[in-house]
Amino acid sequence: MKKSKASMKSCLQPMPKVLVSCRGLDGENNVLAVGYCGNCSYDPPMVMVGIVPTRYSYKMIKESGCFVVNLVEKSYQETFDYLGSHSKRDEDKLQAMQVKMADAEKINAPILTNCPVNIECKVVDSIVTGSHEMFIGKIEYVHADNQLLDNEGNIDFSKIEFL
Ligand SMILES: Cc1cc2nc3c(=O)[nH]c(=O)nc-3n(C[C@H](O)[C@H](O)[C@H](O)COP(=O)(O)O)c2cc1C
Repeated sequence: MKKSKASMKSCLQPMPKVLVSCRGLDGENNVLAVGYCGNCSYDPPMVMVGIVPTRYSYKMIKESGCFVVNLVEKSYQETFDYLGSHSKRDEDKLQAMQVKMADAEKINAPILTNCPVNIECKVVDSIVTGSHEMFIGKIEYVHADNQLLDNEGNIDFSKIEFL
């Protein structure tokens, strides 16, 4: 197969599609779609999310020092798209999409109860890489729907129909 030079932007694919939820110091909740996300330590378990500083969520995560990574199923596509294309700065998008939330277990942020897995994280570091600031989150607690779990608490990810 002949190859030619291609664009370098976002060329690592497939990108994850997760919803990151957070809470500002004043108690306001928010959620945004995130593709710049990945595992970054097995032990201790850590993940990272890349947030553009102009996002309304950015200040919330920066100041609160915590966030939740919510894994998203195909059935949540419409909500994902909406949360990834509307800013809480302009409208109450969580109300518009009737996003269901509950308080996290270990951090001061909401989890999205309609998502099958919710990963609670405390920010331990952050790196401005360029367009994004990568927040390194130490995992404090993971919620998973009961039907996904075996007796040891392992998640059967094959049962999730990812977006
Ligand atoms: C598929 C997809 C992936 C996205 N990935 C990111 C991302 O990794 N980082 C980011 O800051 N914004 C990302 N966005 C954009 C934000 O989700 C979007 O700007 C959102 O409206 C910000 O909401 P907020 O201003 O309420 O925080 C993505 C959007 C979509 C649709």
